Amino acid sequence: MSSLIPVRFQEFDLDAMAQAEGRVAIIIPSDGKMNPAARRANRLTKGAVARLVESEKFGKSKTGDVISMAWPAGMAAEALDVVVLPRRPEADEARKAGAALAKSAGGKDMLVMVGNQAHTENLALGMVLRSYDFNAHKTKDSEGSGSITIGHSKPKEAEAEFAPLYAIADGVRMTRDLTNEPANVLTTTEFADRLVEMQELGLEVEVLEEDKLAELGMRTLLSVGQGSASPSKVVVMHWNGGDKDDAPLALVGKGVVFDTGGISLKPAGGMEDMTMDMGGAGVVAGTMRALAKRKAKANVVGLVGLVENMPSGNATRPGDVVKSMKGDTVEIINTDAEGRLVLCDVMWYAQERFNPVGMIDLATLTGAIIIGLGHENAGVFSNNDTFCDAFLKSARAEDEGAWRMPLGDAYDKLLKSRIADMKNVGGRPAGSITAAQFLQRFVKEDTPWIHLDIAGVASVSSETSYAPKGATGWGVRALSRFVQDNFE
Ligand code: BES
Ligand code: MN
Ligand code: ZN
Repeated sequence: MSSLIPVRFQEFDLDAMAQAEGRVAIIIPSDGKMNPAARRANRLTKGAVARLVESEKFGKSKTGDVISMAWPAGMAAEALDVVVLPRRPEADEARKAGAALAKSAGGKDMLVMVGNQAHTENLALGMVLRSYDFNAHKTKDSEGSGSITIGHSKPKEAEAEFAPLYAIADGVRMTRDLTNEPANVLTTTEFADRLVEMQELGLEVEVLEEDKLAELGMRTLLSVGQGSASPSKVVVMHWNGGDKDDAPLALVGKGVVFDTGGISLKPAGGMEDMTMDMGGAGVVAGTMRALAKRKAKANVVGLVGLVENMPSGNATRPGDVVKSMKGDTVEIINTDAEGRLVLCDVMWYAQERFNPVGMIDLATLTGAIIIGLGHENAGVFSNNDTFCDAFLKSARAEDEGAWRMPLGDAYDKLLKSRIADMKNVGGRPAGSITAAQFLQRFVKEDTPWIHLDIAGVASVSSETSYAPKGATGWGVRALSRFVQDNFE
């Protein structure tokens, strides 16, 4: 497990600049107009900042770029970072600039002289998100665990504004940690334990074990985990920050801690990536953490289905027919289409028990969504335009790619089975859509529902603006905002 980089807010003190060790950052807008911190740095460095501003490099720079000057004369710092940013940036410009700054700092202590710059909280959020480093299993040479100090003209106010964003960043951190963790460490039991720990944040957490799941009739979920030595579990997290009588929003996550494909075994090449097949459950966990830490005034329930998909003498076979909690039977054509079998039972349970105002499921569900949308956008499927548009708006505001995909009867027909109520696969064409159609069969008519296929965005092999290679935490920010804008 990693911890968030600490952030301190202190008085904007020009005299502190010369003495600060580690790195010092100043902000200069594209027009080159220097604020007091830039002028002081310029004086300390005997005009080096002014020469930078007049340089071709600065002329060609864009908003959000960072230009570093190493070992600046007249300062104790090992680098002076110049952040190109207007005094009144948009929130996302400030966030991106912060991320770029953290990237150039590489885990060193940073003093950022922001003064009375607008959107400091977003600048700091970008820094914290990009400072993430998963080094739990490195015994050597991991990047330093530095700290961030923000020099602000109103430090108390800036800190108060930043507090909820720091809570969200901690949710993102948790999602990334869970998603990055290998499957021998993050077993279903370890996953459940980490969720139970969140009780200390005021969440109520229940763990449903296999006997209980069998009693509830969750046979499609159990059929996925039955080949594994790790027990299947469903964990329910309640955040009751709203009115007592308000029905909750339900978040449901696919938590396949490892997906071998089961008897429909995946090829060896790249199979190690399937440690991230619990990414949906990871986002649900991180979002619940963010909501609890920022004390969201809303009722939200998070449910995750934790299973491991392994081949064995007890594993489900292709051709097996199992009954879901809803009562519908499923012919399992391909044991590698397991995510939908987990989700359908948890989604049904969520609706039966909580009668939620809306339900959002998240899953690394199909390889096909990566073919369609790459690593830039999650696939969004919904039965309700208003609900869906509100989510898309939140995702856009947080710069988390999300693109709506179609649903329709013609796709649903592809799931017809000769011997059961449905098959678990619909063939190669429109693979992400038939997966979503499968899920929709377990959504009640009057439940506003969104399915997010995050197979392409949960973990990526090249860095993004806000995250190093690996788990991104995609969705925690969008969901936290979605709750804030629609349910608080
Ligand atoms: N977990 C995979 C989907 C996946 C693929 C996630 C790549 C992340 C990266 C899922 O369980 C799966 O195996 N889906 C199959 C479905 C098929 C058998 C209908 C797929 O996409 O190939
Ligand atoms: Mn699979
Ligand atoms: Zn899977």
